[in-house]
Amino acid sequence: MSPRVWEASGHLEAFTDPLVECLNCHQRFRADHLPGFHAPQSGHDGTETVDMQAAPTCPNCGQDRFTEPRNFHLMFKTFMGPVEDDASVVYLRPETAQAMFVDFPTVQQTSRKKLPFGIAQIGRSFRNEITPGNFIFRLREFEQMEMEYFVVPGTDEEWHEYWIAERLRWYTDLGIREENLRLREHGPDELAHYAKRSVDIEYRFPFLGWGELEGIANRTDYDLRRHEAASGVDLTYFDQERGKRYHPYVIEPAVGVDRAMLAFLIDAYRVEEAPSAKGGTEKRTVLALDRRLAPTKVAVLPLSRNEQLVPTAREVFDLLKPHWMCDYDDAGSIGRRYRRQDEVGTPLCVTVDFDTATDRAVTVRDRDTMAQERVPIERLVEHLRERL
Ligand code: GAP
Repeated sequence: MSPRVWEASGHLEAFTDPLVECLNCHQRFRADHLPGFHAPQSGHDGTETVDMQAAPTCPNCGQDRFTEPRNFHLMFKTFMGPVEDDASVVYLRPETAQAMFVDFPTVQQTSRKKLPFGIAQIGRSFRNEITPGNFIFRLREFEQMEMEYFVVPGTDEEWHEYWIAERLRWYTDLGIREENLRLREHGPDELAHYAKRSVDIEYRFPFLGWGELEGIANRTDYDLRRHEAASGVDLTYFDQERGKRYHPYVIEPAVGVDRAMLAFLIDAYRVEEAPSAKGGTEKRTVLALDRRLAPTKVAVLPLSRNEQLVPTAREVFDLLKPHWMCDYDDAGSIGRRYRRQDEVGTPLCVTVDFDTATDRAVTVRDRDTMAQERVPIERLVEHLRERL
């Protein structure tokens, strides 16, 4: 985007984190991530004063002496075109949000929407994080999905509540356990400069404790006004019912896709006791992903790599392939192949056996209950569609 967009949004001036260096081992840290440090978590507004009085210790060497915090800019800067001069400086976007503000009148007019309505977008964002890590929790290149939901001023608080409840329901509906989720209200000293109120949805990560998955902010009309002032383009909305022009208020759910994926994986992963083929029980690893999140929906497995079974199994695979992401596996014992599919979260397995040639039916096996059901091939697509 034009760098002037980042100027208007406040990012050029204030998208910073407080950086400190340990005076003993010279490692660098984000001050508000140091153990023992109690201060506003990055509000990214650059104005917060960082209080080092709580005497945090260095996670690397244990000393407690640091340089004074300095504001470290999080946007990646680069040059567009062949000449490296000031005129061609551009920035990788640190969030997807701003495009939806500057495009607001175009989207509203071409889609002829009335308030309330939302513009949503998914895509890459980039931040020069001081301390990336914790698996894919904090990355320098990550995926965001954000929505700017434009509402009539005065209805914003109600819509904020609506989206908080709706977003929480989205996680539990897709399988995250309620006890692993919580809402966290931002305190006044932590609110971003654009927000009237902000609530985070947090997940209890086993390696980290509570960590943010998503922020849901009431951004008021801050952004539309800022972009209007900087560009001179009218960013108001004409409300026909009320017969007036105004700047809509905005509710913004902002999700980190990588973090959400990590939470879905952790919540779905379990190791349980299951009946063993040799009698007794054995450990079974299951990725109990919601069927909508499971990357592969169905696996087709011939009972053995037999010349009578393979052509029919291939025929069944070809029948299902146009409908779902399917896997075909004929390597190893059938028990091992079931376990392999359990471990990658495939909800259903279809087994072709020696009876298939005579009864034109297959066995459908459920990942979670391990129950098996005989289904005629001619009804298979319909049967799987009902269950998926
Ligand atoms: N437009 C508002 C905004 O970007 P944010 O809280 O800075 O808000 C939204 O980012 C979400 O993006 C976070 O809740 C988090 O899930 C994800 N996110 C932010 N920085 C990230 C990073 N470095 N690595 C992975 N995900 C990140």
